Amino acid sequence: MAASVSYSQDIVKAALPFLPMTRPTLDEETIAGVVEVLRSGWITSGPCVKEFETKLSAYFGGRPVRTFNSGTCTMEIALRLLGIGQGDEVITTPLTWVATSNVILEVGARPVFVDIDANTRNIDLNKIEAAITAKTRAIIPVDLAGLPVDRARLYEIANRRKIRVIEDAAQSFGSTFNGKRIGSFGDFVSFSFHPNKNITSIEGGCLVLNSEAEAKLAEQYRLQGVIRSGNDGMDVELVGGKFNLTDVAARVGLGQLPRIDEFNQKRILLVKYYLELLSQPEIKAYGLGLPLANFTDSNWHMFQVLLPGDRMTIKRSEVMAKLTQAGIGSGVHYPVIHLFSLYRNLGWKEGDFPIAENVGRNLLTLPLFPSMTHADVERVVKELIAIVSAHIRS
Ligand SMILES: Cc1ncc(COP(=O)(O)O)c(C=O)c1O
Repeated sequence: MAASVSYSQDIVKAALPFLPMTRPTLDEETIAGVVEVLRSGWITSGPCVKEFETKLSAYFGGRPVRTFNSGTCTMEIALRLLGIGQGDEVITTPLTWVATSNVILEVGARPVFVDIDANTRNIDLNKIEAAITAKTRAIIPVDLAGLPVDRARLYEIANRRKIRVIEDAAQSFGSTFNGKRIGSFGDFVSFSFHPNKNITSIEGGCLVLNSEAEAKLAEQYRLQGVIRSGNDGMDVELVGGKFNLTDVAARVGLGQLPRIDEFNQKRILLVKYYLELLSQPEIKAYGLGLPLANFTDSNWHMFQVLLPGDRMTIKRSEVMAKLTQAGIGSGVHYPVIHLFSLYRNLGWKEGDFPIAENVGRNLLTLPLFPSMTHADVERVVKELIAIVSAHIRS
């Protein structure tokens, strides 16, 4: 593409369909497979769930894997497996989907937030040790937008300080660290299959565990604490919930799993094009913050730019409204957690985590999904730059 904002094709706004921020890619074979499940007479947890778990386990190098109906309850169950509750502290980032810290509250423990690294937008590993107390039981790191937290540093700290790790890898399915797949190593690793994730099961998630014994316990937490034996034996030893995945959902996941590399490769190509366009000097001058250009580890779950907040004469919400008017979806991932009312009422306040607060105020997620085209990327960049350039203080 030529430099500047002259584009290979003129975009006629009215003729273009709405470009969402994200959209799952569901093939006809998967849709037919779902219909087959619906007709089979067995639509809740059954053979497809078993097959999905077996294939996920193979994907993660043979580690035990169990599926659940969300990537939220996966983390809650991991916390319960560790016996974390009242009086315990769990370290995490304030810049994540609120599920990450809500599950800590849900089990009765206290989240301890640590500010982020402005470069990676992930938890700042240099600040973790200062947050560890005698009550710290676990760390929940989050791979924001699919960029993995440095696992070498993370586990060096966790092992030395004898703290467990529940990796919130909701966004990093297919990402790697030092050439190894996220999930194929480490302590507990939790994934989400929500429709905006790199692979989906409509709703759903999975937890990679350390042993079959843990997996058996996870099954109890997944379904009312029930343990079955023989034809009619049943016992309940603990309070479990209702977190099982359906076969319909698992069939969707089974159709998605073999396509993960293809999906992620497409995301990478689109992100490279975004970065190429946004790195042109006349565009760079507007001061948009770009994500770390990591093309070895990240699955590029999202493409997020940082708006030049204090230089702009309109708010982020107005930028989003103007993008919508131009037929382009966008999103905010995320407003910082500690400034939500629930968390303010627990004692957090503005200024506690200044780097996360600044990023949370200015971050904007742009469209990125495998069926997008390079022309779609051009369209987004053209509209975004038109909006930014018209509303920037010189
Ligand atoms: C970082 C992070 N953690 C946890 C979750 C929770 O996953 P789910 O929506 O499947 O419960 C999500 C999903 O959006 C997420 O992005």
